[in-house]
Amino acid sequence: MNNKVIAIDGPAGAGKSTIARKLAKLLNYTYIDSGAMYRALTLKVLLQDADVQDQDAVVRIAAETDIDFHHNSIFLDGRNVDQEIREEGINRNVSCIAAVPEVRRIMVELQRKASKGKNVVMDGRDVGTVIFPNASFKFFITASVEERALRRYAETLEKNSQADLEDIKLQIEQRDNVDSTRVDSPLRMAEDATCIDTTGKTVEQVLEEVIKSMNLMGGEY
Ligand code: CDP
Repeated sequence: MNNKVIAIDGPAGAGKSTIARKLAKLLNYTYIDSGAMYRALTLKVLLQDADVQDQDAVVRIAAETDIDFHHNSIFLDGRNVDQEIREEGINRNVSCIAAVPEVRRIMVELQRKASKGKNVVMDGRDVGTVIFPNASFKFFITASVEERALRRYAETLEKNSQADLEDIKLQIEQRDNVDSTRVDSPLRMAEDATCIDTTGKTVEQVLEEVIKSMNLMGGEY
């Protein structure tokens, strides 16, 4: 049985994971990054030199892959892949793999399994619409594409010596486009979600808004 679920969905680079992580810490919930699971599968497909467009091959790989979290780290077949899943090749290919319906079925099962019996904050694209339609609280976190690109740009510069803002912006737009137009579980706001536009806001301001809204809704957390 699941306990409490707080669902945080939204487009690429909107700051979902920062908010979700902080919220989980504050409430003493478990944070689950559903996107990291698609990223881990993409890493495996690339490592096996399989064609990301070959849906049968991708589904075959997904069916024989174990993806799980331990202490906020992600493990792909027992190996910690926290760093590798953030690399450039993954950004470019993950949305194509996440659009495959059978892959999504397998991932949703893993995501529900990882949440079982826990109070969780989960972020992604379909948490409030598909994975946990009965979540206790649902948020849709977004920001202008310019701001989202700038945030990713700053993040990338922290890790690498160089980054290309225009290229990052283009990639974000492409990923949003694939995520929003796919047939199975497209990125969209759940009807009962609270939308927060984070453009021009600090992490603290957004977190405050999330908690205020949870208090207003009166639900227990
Ligand atoms: O953090 P960022 O916004 O870059 O993306 P992410 O949460 O790591 O997700 C990476 C990709 O996985 C997304 O662009 C989607 O294609 C896919 N994804 C999904 O389809 N469903 C989810 N619940 C989470 C991620």
